[in-house]
Formats: sequence, C-alpha cells, structure tokens
Amino acid sequence: MTAQQRIVLGIGGGIAAYKVAALLRLFKESGRHVDVVPTEASLQFVGRATWEALSGRPVHTGVFEAVEDVNHVRLGQEADLVVIAPATADLVARLAAGMANDLLTNTVLASRAPVMIAPAMHTEMWENPATTANIATLRSRGITVVDPGVGRLTGKDSGPGRLPEAQELFDAAQRLLAAASHLVGPRTDLPLSGRTVVVSAGGTREPLDPVRFLGNRSSGKQGTAVARAALAAGATVKLIAAHLETGVPPGVELVTASTALELRDAVTAACEGADAVVMAAAVADFRPADYADSKIKKKGDDGAPTLTLVRNPDILASLVDQRREDPASGPAVIVGFAAETGDDDGSVMDHARSKLARKGCDLLVVNEVGATLGFGTEDNTVTILSADDAPEVHVAGTKDEVAEAVVTALAAALNR
Ligand code: CTP
Repeated sequence: MTAQQRIVLGIGGGIAAYKVAALLRLFKESGRHVDVVPTEASLQFVGRATWEALSGRPVHTGVFEAVEDVNHVRLGQEADLVVIAPATADLVARLAAGMANDLLTNTVLASRAPVMIAPAMHTEMWENPATTANIATLRSRGITVVDPGVGRLTGKDSGPGRLPEAQELFDAAQRLLAAASHLVGPRTDLPLSGRTVVVSAGGTREPLDPVRFLGNRSSGKQGTAVARAALAAGATVKLIAAHLETGVPPGVELVTASTALELRDAVTAACEGADAVVMAAAVADFRPADYADSKIKKKGDDGAPTLTLVRNPDILASLVDQRREDPASGPAVIVGFAAETGDDDGSVMDHARSKLARKGCDLLVVNEVGATLGFGTEDNTVTILSADDAPEVHVAGTKDEVAEAVVTALAAALNR
C-alpha cells in the first residue's frame, strides 16, 4: 500500500475556474487527497463552498487564516504535486517574481513538489512579451506549463488562451505524478518500469584559463525533456548534466559534469548496469591543448595567443566499442543525437544514415540544421533512425513531445 497522494489545487481568478471543479472531481475519484487553494480574486468566479464541498476540506486564501495549522508552509511541504488552473497573467507574474503575497504563492514557494500550471487568459495577454518572459522563467525553473488551447474565449473573441479540458489537465498531472514516483513508490506497469536509463544533457565547457572556456549554445532542454519522459515511463533516470539553462526534473539521480572528459567519466560510471543511454549532451569535439593556471594576459603589444586544440574522446563511440568487446557490460540500447545539413555529397538523411552506421549506436535522433536547430527553443523537429530495420519516426512538436517519441522508440528497441 502506498500513501495517499496529496495534491494542492491552486485556483486563479479567471472565468475558467468553473472548469476546474471537474478536474477536482477527477482527482478525488482517483483517490487523491486534494487541498484547494483559491486566490481571493478567484472566489468572484467560484465560491469557497463549491471547493469545500467537492474536496471535503476547509478552504483558505490568506496566510492569516487557520494560522494554528501553519498552512502557508505545511500545504506545500506535504504536497506530492501542485496544480494551478487557471493560471492568470497576474498569477503567472507573481509566481515568476517569487512573490508570496497570498496562501497560494506561499504554498508554491514552500514546496519541493513538481508544479504544473495551466495558463488561461485572453490571447493579447498570453502573447504579451511580459507574459511570454514570465512563462519562460517558470519553464526554466522546471515548472510544467500546459499550453492553453485555441478556441472561443469569454466574449465573442477566439484564439490561444482557453483552459484545456479537465481530462487533459488530469492526464498531464498523472504523468507528472508518475514521473515523481520516487515519492510514492515505483510503479511496475509502465513501459520502462524496472529499467535504468542514463541521459546526458547540456553543453560541455572546455577551460582555457580560470575565467575562460570554449562552450556551445546547448540549453539542455531536449535532454532534460528526455529525462522527464523516461521518468514518466517508469524508469530510474540518471541525468548526467553538463551546463544547463533549464531546471533539473524532480526525481532524477543527478550527476554534474563540466568538461567532455568529466562527462565521459560520469556517463561511463552511470552506464554500469544501466539498460539504456541517451547521449543528448552537446559534447565539445575539441579542447584547448593547454590550460593556463592563471588568467592569460595581454602582453602590451597587439599580439594575440594562438590556441592549439586537441580532440576529445567520442563518448558515444566508446560506449559502442566497450559493448562490442563485452556485450554483457554496456547498456542494451545506445541512443545518439546528430545535427546534420544536406550538401553536394548527400541529403540530411544520407549523412544521418552513414553517421548511424559509423557510430554504431542503436538509435539516432537527427535534427536538420537550418530548418530547426533547436538551441534554446521550446520546439524541435527530428527524425529517429533505427539501426535495425524499425521504420523511421518523424516528430515535430514541443521538446516534451519529441522526448516522448524518443522514449517510445527506446522502449521498443529494448523489447526487441
Ligand atoms: N558525442 C559524444 N562525444 C563527443 C562528441 C559527440 O558522445 N566527443 C555524441 C553526442 O552526445 C551526440 C552525438 O555524439 O549524441 C553527436 O555526434 P557528432 O559526431 O558530434 O555529431 P555532429 O556534431 O553532428 O558531428 P560531425 O561534425 O562529426 O558531423
């Protein structure tokens, strides 16, 4: 018997609050304990009595109510998941600023649980640069943002800004709870239940001196999305993180590595006993041949130093080599990423297929450079190639959708 899961359901002050009553019902019917925390403004749309009746719990909006229960920290600390719907532009801004001026924002700050928000507002407000920046900030902190739907809004207008239906929000919350299954005990019925997956993500940095390095523009968003998707599919996930511009998904075993050599050591150690490895990290192919212990100085004349680079080891290729030498030793499925362009010698896919053969990995996730390189963006377009004759998979969508497709292909390859 696992403990009953606890959900904090935050309600923002938008008309879509009425739809969240159905979401609360779904949570309750699935056996969850739910504390509803409305903002004061949201009570203009749906009253306290509705939330108390449906949740079977007292409902408060301010930190000075029911002070004896220390709700402003207790609710957040005890939660397995925080869901906020509808998240209005004002609430999104307060969350992004880290404010704590009501019970809901206090609860979010006091919680280490995964947080999912479902913004709903008029299209103009959703597309306003202030909201866009706030949403990007929240995403970069690891908060899951369920994009609003497109359709009829409150008045006659329509466009992006609609709160998704209760069932869709419920399904997204279920995926997050599954991903955080370390909090509630492992599940045995998911595609990667009982499997260990190593994921590398982010860009390596190769130091020149104590203040300078050679780096790259990888944000780590696609790799961390793969880690999240593998967690949601039931795997134990070891995330080997180079430099990330995004949050670490809750529930992974995190190892950090800065340089290509550190990443190689961390990945090699993590792969022992693992079932699969996904090399999503952007690993520097070269590093400075020499490291200066003190800062390299201008020498008074107009000269500039000449950098000599040496090759870094190819981690992906060495994992494949190790497995060839000792098939029982390495992960059964090795996944590489590749960025390709077409040229006179062949198309993107010609180059990708020859790279798959050259690297000897089992799956290759191919980005067409130029079309969508994907650095730092939320969306990606890839083709997943398989070394056995499984059909190619094309995916265009959010990095989470691409990650789900990678994990599906990985699970299928593990079972072949
Ligand atoms: N990789 C690695 N070790 C390196 C370089 C890359 O393990 N030193 C991995 C990456 O994590 C990725 C894949 O190899 O999974 C990318 O291969 P790579 O040959 O670097 O691809 P491109 O950057 O497309 O390189 P090339 O210029 O050779 O086409």
